[in-house]
Amino acid sequence: MAVDLINPLASLSDPTLFIEDAFVGGHWIKAKTTFEVLGESPLTSVEPVNGSKISNVANLERARGNLLRKWYELVEKNVRDLAIILCLENGKTYAEAEGEVKYAASFIKWFAEEAPRAYGDTIPSSQANTTIMTFRQPIGVCGIITPWNFPAAMITRKVAPALAAGCSVVIKPPSETPHSCLALTKLAVEAGIPPACINVCTTKDRAAATELAMNSLVNKLSFTESTGVGKKLAGLASTTLKKTSLELGGNAALIVFDDADLDIAVAGTMVSKFRCTGQTCVCANRIFVQRGVSEKFTARLVEKVNLLNMGSGFDGQTTQGPLVNKAAVEKVDQHVKDALSKGGKLRTGGSSGPGSGYFYKPTVISGASTSMLVANEETFGPLALIWEFDTEEEAIQLANSTEFGLANYMFSSDIGRIMRVSQQLQSGMVGVNTGLISAAETPFGGVKESGYGKEGSKYGLEEYQVLKSVTIGNLQA
Ligand code: SIN
Repeated sequence: MAVDLINPLASLSDPTLFIEDAFVGGHWIKAKTTFEVLGESPLTSVEPVNGSKISNVANLERARGNLLRKWYELVEKNVRDLAIILCLENGKTYAEAEGEVKYAASFIKWFAEEAPRAYGDTIPSSQANTTIMTFRQPIGVCGIITPWNFPAAMITRKVAPALAAGCSVVIKPPSETPHSCLALTKLAVEAGIPPACINVCTTKDRAAATELAMNSLVNKLSFTESTGVGKKLAGLASTTLKKTSLELGGNAALIVFDDADLDIAVAGTMVSKFRCTGQTCVCANRIFVQRGVSEKFTARLVEKVNLLNMGSGFDGQTTQGPLVNKAAVEKVDQHVKDALSKGGKLRTGGSSGPGSGYFYKPTVISGASTSMLVANEETFGPLALIWEFDTEEEAIQLANSTEFGLANYMFSSDIGRIMRVSQQLQSGMVGVNTGLISAAETPFGGVKESGYGKEGSKYGLEEYQVLKSVTIGNLQA
């Protein structure tokens, strides 16, 4: 990897990928003016991808697919630089950053391939001499609001299907981590995506999100972050009846049955719980282990957790980067103290540090109960809290007793149980015998207060399309 630890940006092969300006209406502009520009007029100049440069291409879907393919190739060519920028702005390890850039690229590749598959139907009509056809058309201008925990992948998971569908986008990247988005945008423009189709408004001003939700020139809003903010934006978007996709908070249960392969269960728990230092919406938040195997499972988990190393993301020994800010460290500590004060047993970790960065020691606590804060709140940090349960029914009931429904996980080697339990878990996604469920081909999204809409997969394109029916009558007249 060989990155200059004092000045990582000096290690970029292409230093022009580190950008501090915003990109609006095809121009790089000083970031501080971005919100004013967003609030005034540039939305009127946002052309659909069908416009300008490729409007004379007969087969627009294929042309869009080709442009996305070129964008994908440029992202792949610049993986190292993009990973350095991501590691620097987010703090995740370089290995995770590189993994995320490849994950981000996979959405571009996937939707480059999906673009030409925007099939419609022909529908037999109940009327004589009539035929009905459906077409999938771009919904129009899309407002895209993304979180800091995946600064690259959450951009491409939304922007690639929007561009594939023929929409243009106005992105509000997170103020904590805008640089991956800006670098990806530069590469998109280099790939030939019409500059007017991709706008990036870097701002801390929450009014920008309000503008995207309410502006009548925006036809679709896609948002990933907390349930609280998602509800507010959905309310604002309803004033113009905008189509919305919301990928919101989670409170994932991870259930280990006594018939599970414990090595697989522990490995899956490590991935689900400690990926991105516990800061993913799909992180296991509540770990339920059947009583007969709970001691064995906990001991093996603690062994693995004790091998984790905190530090700089650029240090090859580091497995856990820092948390995003001081408030995040305080929240983990609050959950740890609450659990210990309510009868939880500390098995490892349990305090902040080392050093002055926003680190919290990877922590395992057993003896959890439903009175603890973690039962109802997402920790969003490296705390593994373990409950014991006795029966399958109890595990399902405990897992479902939350208003969230993004992801759940289960570990079992009984196929009958796998089918029964996975059907009854109330979440948009279930991981069985794995802690990693995210991939470009998998529909990603939740139920209940975790939001609605699907990202990635063959369904992701539809979120950015409208289905139009055309009825042709009097065909033999
Ligand atoms: C998220 O945390 O919102 C995304 C996680 C993922 O894509 O795996």
